Amino acid sequence: MHTERLVLRSLRPGDEADVFAYRSIPEVVRYIPGAPKTREQVADLVAERATAGRLEPTSPILTLAVELDGRVVGDVLLHLDGLDGHDGRQAEVGWVFAPDVAGHGYATEAARALVDAAFREVGAHRVWAKLEPENTPSSRICERLGMRHEATFRQASWFKERWTDLAIYAVLAEEWGASGQASSRPVGG
Ligand SMILES: CC(C)(COP(=O)(O)OP(=O)(O)OC[C@H]1O[C@@H](n2cnc3c(N)ncnc32)[C@H](O)[C@@H]1OP(=O)(O)O)[C@@H](O)C(=O)NCCC(=O)NCCS
Repeated sequence: MHTERLVLRSLRPGDEADVFAYRSIPEVVRYIPGAPKTREQVADLVAERATAGRLEPTSPILTLAVELDGRVVGDVLLHLDGLDGHDGRQAEVGWVFAPDVAGHGYATEAARALVDAAFREVGAHRVWAKLEPENTPSSRICERLGMRHEATFRQASWFKERWTDLAIYAVLAEEWGASGQASSRPVGG
């Protein structure tokens, strides 16, 4: 997928150095599962995700590399509950970006394209994100996309050796407008 400034594509061999550059930084992985990655772990991650470049019934998780001027500066994730039946048509989205490109709206631009594809191409009914409320850069992405803050659960997740609060943001297909953005007046909201 092409956006104004970015290319979203499957991870592929050769991306390891770019991905290591951000996934090895402790502050970057603070709110995402796992410790900072070693080069070997990044090589495994790229190899594993590169083969899972399509949504399949056996593989409802899609990771896309986000390229800026030929460099992978981040990756975004779409995790479908399933590919069969109505219940499965809910998709969780996630994102992680290199700190040196922060503050230019690249993550928002990539996330918007991903959510748009989830609705238009995958046929999702609901797209949602979960995050720690203190992760304000992430909650601001949700807000810029027009996702609704639906709940904050107190100490609902045991994450990195402590209980953490969990904020849930979501948007429905019927709220996602033709411009690839949640409408300002969500149906029923
Ligand atoms: C979450 C994360 C991707 C957010 O990065 P980010 O740089 O704040 O997000 P964006 O690239 O969308 O940039 C948004 C900022 O650029 C500004 N901006 C500049 N040009 C912009 C444009 N054209 N469009 C949108 N925003 C723009 C915005 O005002 C915003 O600034 P602010 O921080 O002062 O509000 C990043 O902090 C990260 O990778 N964190 C670690 C991983 C993580 O926590 N993932 C989520 C787990 S739940």
